[in-house]
Amino acid sequence: PTAHVADLVVFGGTGDLSMRKLLPALFHSDRDGRLAPQTRVIAMSRGGLTDADFRGKVEAEVRPRLHSGDDEGWARFLGRLHHVSVDVGGPDHAGWRALTHLLAGRENIDRVFYLASPPMTFGPFCRGVQEAGLATPRSRVVLEKPLGRDLAGARRINDEVGAIFEERQIFRIDHYLGKETVQNLLVLRFANAFLEPVWNSLWIDHVQITAAESVGTPGRRGYYDQAGALRDMVQNHLLQLLCLVAMEPPSRNDRESIRDEKLKVLQSLRQIAGTEADRFTVRGQYVSGEVDGRAVPGYLDEPDHTAPTVASHRVETFTAIRAEVKNWRWAGVPFYLRTGKRMPHRRSEIVVQFKEVPHSIFPGGGPNRLVLRLGPSEGIHLHIMAKEPGAGEVVPRPVPLSLSFADTFRARVPEAYERLLMDVLSGNPTLFMRRDEVEAAWSWIDPIIATWESGGSPPEPYAAGTPGPAAARELLGRSGRAWYEED
Ligand code: BG6
Repeated sequence: PTAHVADLVVFGGTGDLSMRKLLPALFHSDRDGRLAPQTRVIAMSRGGLTDADFRGKVEAEVRPRLHSGDDEGWARFLGRLHHVSVDVGGPDHAGWRALTHLLAGRENIDRVFYLASPPMTFGPFCRGVQEAGLATPRSRVVLEKPLGRDLAGARRINDEVGAIFEERQIFRIDHYLGKETVQNLLVLRFANAFLEPVWNSLWIDHVQITAAESVGTPGRRGYYDQAGALRDMVQNHLLQLLCLVAMEPPSRNDRESIRDEKLKVLQSLRQIAGTEADRFTVRGQYVSGEVDGRAVPGYLDEPDHTAPTVASHRVETFTAIRAEVKNWRWAGVPFYLRTGKRMPHRRSEIVVQFKEVPHSIFPGGGPNRLVLRLGPSEGIHLHIMAKEPGAGEVVPRPVPLSLSFADTFRARVPEAYERLLMDVLSGNPTLFMRRDEVEAAWSWIDPIIATWESGGSPPEPYAAGTPGPAAARELLGRSGRAWYEED
């Protein structure tokens, strides 16, 4: 379906996110006929570019990565692009006037302000929009993560933006919610009958949620020193995945029902504070090592335009946490979360491990697992026990029943941002985080950070190309469990 006509104003429009994710996603949506003909994309930055400069930049930097041989489609897409220079740091009247001029006469169409810029600019930008009289009732604002560094910071941002836009107009993006497998998790759980009876502590032993990356953080020190793996990945992406696994069946697929259920999960998370942080959390920082046969530097030696500081020594590039959802369905089922940079492979997945059969009549065997692979190659794999053909002893072996989205549906699997941008343009907030969700997530994260910061010890080192510090293994090992590492 084609979204409404809209003006999409991207603040930070020449930045990394815009060039790597937003513009390619918009191009694909345009090519698939999902952008209304009159829809425009207005990039804002301090860059001092003209429309022609900006189009040239997109042609040079974005097009080669899209391998678009479709000249006509590409020309149409470029024609939608505009650029306005603005400096929100000061009273830049010329910049706001230029934007006002560009938007004039289009007050009655949807207007989306996408803030792909650091969070300290969210408040000033929204105030600029309001002072220029550009916040119409049909406006929406999209906030990129990170939404603050802690609960207090998140509340401040939410208050600042909330002073200008109503909650229904605020779309807080978590791109993991746009991934196909994540959407499919909802369909798998709530459009199939066979899972629900076993989706609880009677049948499930534990859940693992992993987002492993082989990349490091070159050039990102300024951001990453202040964030670390817990704020960068767990507070948002991993907790959102946990919510979708753990939530109760919502009564409707509408804008509030799913978010209401996710909120209840976040509110049921058992707080980890004080000495418990030592038992239930692991922090690591990569040192030099080898990834894909290539020697790579440690976090502190990553090339960057700033030198490492005290914060660089203390920041975690890996974390593993044993979480618990304290409610009837999940009592006693650990949810292990794990994410890190410079791990051996890039792999994001949710592993639901079932309990073993109560009484086995065969030698060997093992638990059933449901593996939801978010990437690479998105798909769902249900590992069942099967008999290997042959006349010898009957020994059960785990065999995956596999569903690869790409092979089964023979359609291009869209990038998360495509889906989410189309939802923003058509005004559907279901896959976006509500204020109370974000704040509940921070309420769980804050005490962990407080304990980490008050302790004297730095994160444990792990060699790049290894699956994190040894303590991550022990986090499961001490209860006889192990991270699932096979394909
Ligand atoms: C971003 C984080 O939100 O997600 C990055 O800031 C991380 O550090 C990225 O690399 C991972 O996303 P994906 O879709 O590549 O798994």
